[in-house]
Amino acid sequence: MRNTTLYTSECLFIEGGQRLKGSVRISGSKNASLPVMMSSLLTDQVCEIHEVPHLLDVESTIELLQVLGVDVSYDGGCVRIDPSKVNSFVAPDNIVRRMRASVLAMGPLLARFGRAVVAMPGGCSIGVRAIDQHIKVFEKGGTFVRVEHGYIHLEVERIKPVEYTFEVVTVTGTENALMFLSRCEKRSILRNIAVEPEVIDLVEVLKSMGVSIEIEGRTAIIKGNAELKGFDHKVIPDRIEAGTFLVAGFMTGGDIELENVRVEHLGSVIEKIREAGACVEILAPDKLRVRSEGDGIRPISISTSEYPGFPTDMQAQFMSMCCIARGSSEITENIFENRFQHVAELQRMGADIHVKGRTAFIRGVKKLTGAEVFSTDLRASASLVLAGLVAEGRTIVREIYHLDRGYEKLDEKLKGLGALIQRRPTFDIT
Ligand code: EPZ
Repeated sequence: MRNTTLYTSECLFIEGGQRLKGSVRISGSKNASLPVMMSSLLTDQVCEIHEVPHLLDVESTIELLQVLGVDVSYDGGCVRIDPSKVNSFVAPDNIVRRMRASVLAMGPLLARFGRAVVAMPGGCSIGVRAIDQHIKVFEKGGTFVRVEHGYIHLEVERIKPVEYTFEVVTVTGTENALMFLSRCEKRSILRNIAVEPEVIDLVEVLKSMGVSIEIEGRTAIIKGNAELKGFDHKVIPDRIEAGTFLVAGFMTGGDIELENVRVEHLGSVIEKIREAGACVEILAPDKLRVRSEGDGIRPISISTSEYPGFPTDMQAQFMSMCCIARGSSEITENIFENRFQHVAELQRMGADIHVKGRTAFIRGVKKLTGAEVFSTDLRASASLVLAGLVAEGRTIVREIYHLDRGYEKLDEKLKGLGALIQRRPTFDIT
């Protein structure tokens, strides 16, 4: 099952200066696939999930499900799960450390078995990433929670209905809460929920399993069902991959078409890239064209916020674009406290950026120059690849397992659009 080539810390060689041309198909959403795969733990019936991208995080989720005793096969984008023989409730440290979204096992395990033992996810490079809101919902539902030897032990006799207002809008917190309450037959109310498209995709799956969920604004009313059915679901396209290609097509001065997108999920991203001067044409509800009109990139100001606001997961990619804009841009990161690690690497390529608190001030420069740069997290690595596409000379992006966690064959897709990009084993630096 494990594809070892995804696990070596390889690097990408990029020769800058190519204008991207052609058409690219966007893969299924990583951040929809992970919770939907975990929701299979709620039932003992077979579940099939289509258009699941081949990523490190998907492999880690499969590994976790198998550790729990679930039978999983993955072939050609389709994940087939038989959750009838779950024989463990422990999400081990080595998997949770690799993928903090493993915490999404807590909700369904508690709902179906009343037990879960999950290694503390710890922080990650973009921030502390607490899970206090997840825990508060579980406790309100009658769960006993204790932390011991680095693991969170959760137990609940009979889940009680919950009425809770999230203190912060949290994507996986909302997803965990919805799955936790999916088998509680009394009515629960969750307020101030996240409404990202990936959350809504999970809601569609839970409804198909037999859960009644009504969402009005940021309020969800849930009535669970003691017996939940298996499901057959196709995950939504990845709006962050789509946004990444919109930036790539525009900032290289190219002209590309994106297939398999959901235009309605990209509102704030399309608005912003048009503000920067891109010509974005909606060819169909699932097809976009982006091109540069040849008069460069206009400076912009961005402030990240929860959906439908500008997504934090697009912040690093837009910063690369702003590095070569005709003027000064500002980017404020409101969701995570440490999501500017790509700044230091972009500066090695000649970017003129300075950070003050939560805001990065980017003065556009005439050109970036190729350099050896290090990925620190998933979207930061994407921003370095984008910078390499326009930089003069060669850029080497190292530690691209970060990239492989969240993008399916990004280098191959870029190569298909004319980029001069090559994946190499790390030791092979000549
Ligand atoms: C999800 O992470 C995504 N991951 C992230 O995508 C994305 O950046 C993030 O949502 C925000 O949109 C998945 O869906 C697997 P949060 P999540 O809980 O759920 C604070 C990517 O690049 N918070 O919405 O972990 C938290 O510290 C990844 O694909 C609490 O304080 O994010 C953060 O500051 C990166 N207490 C803010 O809320 C909690 O209990 C938003 O976090 C939970 C969160």
